[in-house]
Amino acid sequence: MDFKGKAILLSGATGGIGEEIAKQLSKEECNIALLARGEEKLKKISEEINSDKTKCIYKKCDVKNKENVKEAVKFVYNEFGKIDLAILNAGILIANPIETMDSSIIIKTMEINFFGNVYFFESLFPYMKSQESATIAVTSTLPDKRGIAGWGAYGASKAALSLLIESFRAEAKQKYNINFITIKPGSVKTPMIADYQRPGAISPERAANIILNGIKRGKKIIEFPFSQVIMTKIGDLFPVSAYDAVPVNMQKGGGYPEVEEK
Ligand SMILES: NC(=O)c1ccc[n+]([C@@H]2O[C@H](COP(=O)([O-])OP(=O)(O)OC[C@H]3O[C@@H](n4cnc5c(N)ncnc54)[C@H](OP(=O)(O)O)[C@@H]3O)[C@@H](O)[C@H]2O)c1
Repeated sequence: MDFKGKAILLSGATGGIGEEIAKQLSKEECNIALLARGEEKLKKISEEINSDKTKCIYKKCDVKNKENVKEAVKFVYNEFGKIDLAILNAGILIANPIETMDSSIIIKTMEINFFGNVYFFESLFPYMKSQESATIAVTSTLPDKRGIAGWGAYGASKAALSLLIESFRAEAKQKYNINFITIKPGSVKTPMIADYQRPGAISPERAANIILNGIKRGKKIIEFPFSQVIMTKIGDLFPVSAYDAVPVNMQKGGGYPEVEEK
C-alpha cells in the first residue's frame, strides 16, 4: 500500500505507539484522522502534523461507547469521503492478581480491548464495503495463544481479538476486498508498560516503523521484535505440564504489583 493520498483513521493516537504512527504517517502525504479520549493531546499532535501536504483532523472518542465510535467513523468518512485504512490501536493493560480476583477488571479490559474494536468493525464495514478496497489493521499482542500468570484479563481480550480478526480475514477479503491485518507487538517502551521491567523492549519509534512497513508490504500478520517472536513461538510448543512449570513470578515479570489477600 502506498500511503500517499490515502484516508487513514487511527485510534489510540495519543499513546506511545499511536503517536509515533501518526508522526511517521505525517511524512507520507496522506489524510489522517486521530482518535482517543484525550482531546488536548489530540489537538497538539494534530497541530504538529498538519501541513500543506498532510491534512490531520481529530475527534474525541471513547471506544467503550458504541455511539462514540459510530459518530467518529462517520465524521472521518464525511471529512475525507473514504476510509482507505483504519489502524485500530487503542488498548489498556491492567494486572489482575489472583489474590484479589476482580471481575470488573476483566469486564473493563474486554470492553476496551475487544468490544472497542468490535464497534469499529461494525461502523467501518458499511463504508468499506462500498469502496473498491480497504484495510483494517488491529493491534493485538504477541502472546495471544497461551495465558500468562497475572495477566489473564489482557491476554483473554487480545486472544479473543486475534481470533475474531482471523475469522473475518478470508471472508472480508474474498467478498469485499477488505484486508485484515493483525499487529502483534512484543514489549514496546510506552506509558502502558512504564511500571514494568521488560527486557528486550523496543522503542515506540521502531515499533511504529515496523508496523507501517508491514502495512505497506501488505502483510497479514505483523509480529515483532524478532527475538520475542521466537521465544513466544517456542513457548507455544511447550506441553501444558512444562508451560505450567515456569515460575509464576517469572511469568508475571518485574514490576508486577504486590497485593494483599482480600
Ligand atoms: N506497549 C507494549 O508493550 C504493547 C505490547 C503489545 C501490545 N500493545 C498494544 O498496543 C496498543 C498501543 O499501546 P501503547 O503501548 O501505545 O499504550 P499507551 O501508551 O498506554 O496508549 C494507549 C492508547 O489507547 C487509548 N485509549 C485507552 N483507552 C481508551 C478508550 N477507552 N477509548 C479510546 N482510546 C483509549 C489512549 O488514549 P486516551 O487515554 O487519550 O483515550 C492511548 O492513545 C494497545 O492496543 C496495546 O494493547 C502494546
